[in-house]
Amino acid sequence: MNDTNVTANNITKHAKILSPKRNTTQATTIDELTDEQLAHFGIDKNSEYGQALFNTAQHLYYTQANMQQLWQITSDTLEGLSKENKVAYFNAKKFLSFQIAKILDTLQNPFRATYQSLSKQSGSQVSKSHYPLFDNVTALFSATPVVVRTATYVYACTEWVDDAFQGKESTHQIYSRLLNPTNISLANAIVDLEAGPYSADYLAWNFNSGMAAIDALLSNILSHGDVLIVSRNVYGGVYQLLHDYFARENRMDVQLEWFDGYSAQEFAIFMQQTKAKHSQRLSLANTANTGRALHVYIESPCNPHGYVLDVAGISKIAHASGHVVMLDATLATPILHQPLQRLDKEERPDYVVHSYTKDICGSGATTAGVVIGEAYRMFQSKGDCVNGYDWSKTMFWDVYYIKGAFLDSEKAFDVLTGMKTLEMRIMQKVINTFVFSQFLASHLSFNVNCHAIGGHPNAALREGQMRHGWPCALFTVDMQGKDISHSTISHSTLSRPIVSRPIISRDTFVRFFDALEPAFSHQVSIGQHNTIVLCPALTSHSELDEAAQAKGGIYLTTMRIAMGTDNVRELIAHFINSTKLHIDPVIPGFSEQFMSVPEIDDLYLRTCLRVSHQHFSSGGSISSMLT
Ligand SMILES: Cc1ncc(COP(=O)(O)O)c(C=O)c1O
Repeated sequence: MNDTNVTANNITKHAKILSPKRNTTQATTIDELTDEQLAHFGIDKNSEYGQALFNTAQHLYYTQANMQQLWQITSDTLEGLSKENKVAYFNAKKFLSFQIAKILDTLQNPFRATYQSLSKQSGSQVSKSHYPLFDNVTALFSATPVVVRTATYVYACTEWVDDAFQGKESTHQIYSRLLNPTNISLANAIVDLEAGPYSADYLAWNFNSGMAAIDALLSNILSHGDVLIVSRNVYGGVYQLLHDYFARENRMDVQLEWFDGYSAQEFAIFMQQTKAKHSQRLSLANTANTGRALHVYIESPCNPHGYVLDVAGISKIAHASGHVVMLDATLATPILHQPLQRLDKEERPDYVVHSYTKDICGSGATTAGVVIGEAYRMFQSKGDCVNGYDWSKTMFWDVYYIKGAFLDSEKAFDVLTGMKTLEMRIMQKVINTFVFSQFLASHLSFNVNCHAIGGHPNAALREGQMRHGWPCALFTVDMQGKDISHSTISHSTLSRPIVSRPIISRDTFVRFFDALEPAFSHQVSIGQHNTIVLCPALTSHSELDEAAQAKGGIYLTTMRIAMGTDNVRELIAHFINSTKLHIDPVIPGFSEQFMSVPEIDDLYLRTCLRVSHQHFSSGGSISSMLT
């Protein structure tokens, strides 16, 4: 075979993906591919019409082969290109997209006219006579992702659909429960945000709620009788899902082991203890028969105190023994923590979950969730096996495809819109968290469980792990009247004489709590624009019994505060006035024991300047952006 033939074969190989007979074609040249196409649709090549169609199709095949070449050159050279060249090549490709769309748009005239000539436009035919493909072409130019509200899609031809069912044709969607363009747009956006420079290695699946995402992930990973290490302070709904479903003997019989610590060292010890406790179940002989394994599920920052776990350290230890690590990073959002951007892959959790319902969407108007994982774990075409991982085990085929908890396009659009303002919202919340927690801690009667406060046992981990050392905008405060200690973290941040803390009766506390509206919202969620306050013992964590609540540092007077983007000084003023109204009559002078008004004003301004400086001075000099 001479060089020309080799090149022609290569061109045909790349071009045949466009053929209606892409899987069965015998064509070895573009001309043969084009002939086949015309024959497939019953077109006489020798007619004038046939010649026009032949010429068009032939050019499309060559274009497809050229696009493959463009892709190859791009992947080979992108890294070494200068910024100017990247700008030039980007815009050249963008213009090509418009040219291709223009061709498609020009095709609409002959296409539409032919279609109209087939339809009678009368009576019941009217509803059928609308063929959306014509109008959808210009939607390509929409500046925001298109909300694709459809259950089904128009097929190109049998072989393409066949490929689509095998997961081999990404352009060709079949059914919105499986793939939907708006949903995919969101999946791409969250992967870019979460995985940054490693985005090409990751994929995401979106779900109808955070709980649906977590359920899908656990369903994908857990097998009957497995052992699961779970960090203690998980969201109450997750506790319920694990306890009432996965752990039930007559369901999945998963053995739950609750990890109370936060550091890698504590985790290493706990993992050894867990392995020893379940040695029989996890023994090689046993696992060979039953496939039982140990996995790790952590939430960081965790509900309700907002403390962080050493995610990188824990992941590394778990990975050293081959265990899968799942992380619910809802409270961090990719702004505060980027667990998938660690250089050392062993330090990255295998899966990251977000409840979009919270900060990422931010409006409180939509429930949605996502699981992000390495591409080979999330999706492979039928029959493939990457890194020893079979296609049938991927989250798409194993769970997503069959369970149907997909996220519809309108909600996906809401989340995408919310994401655009995420960074600024988080920065405002960070300021509010620093200020409000310090204001509360200035009063002797409040135990403030918040890692934003310097010297807090969780502050060092927060400093080392979170972007700029920023805190989670969720914390708790209680009025127990005495210090409360926890196995690893003292829930009291300030060691003051116990005698100086009067015990607040339940009745007084409840009246005070009820007076916090409207500055503070009495709602159950977190991560919204408004500041939300609730009693976990009575709401989000009411699924836990009293002993489990106490282990998690939750008491009747515990208030969980989810900072919003409101003016924190107005919140403080309302808080002081509520104590005046309901606590001063039983404990005279209570409202006067906070820091003074000038101190609050000063704290506010200093914090705004410090956090803004951290934000605006990050990212290096403009010189790094020029090259
Ligand atoms: C940390 C965390 N994960 C998961 C969820 C569940 O998310 P959704 O309410 O979207 O189902 C919540 C809900 O509050 C949460 O706080």
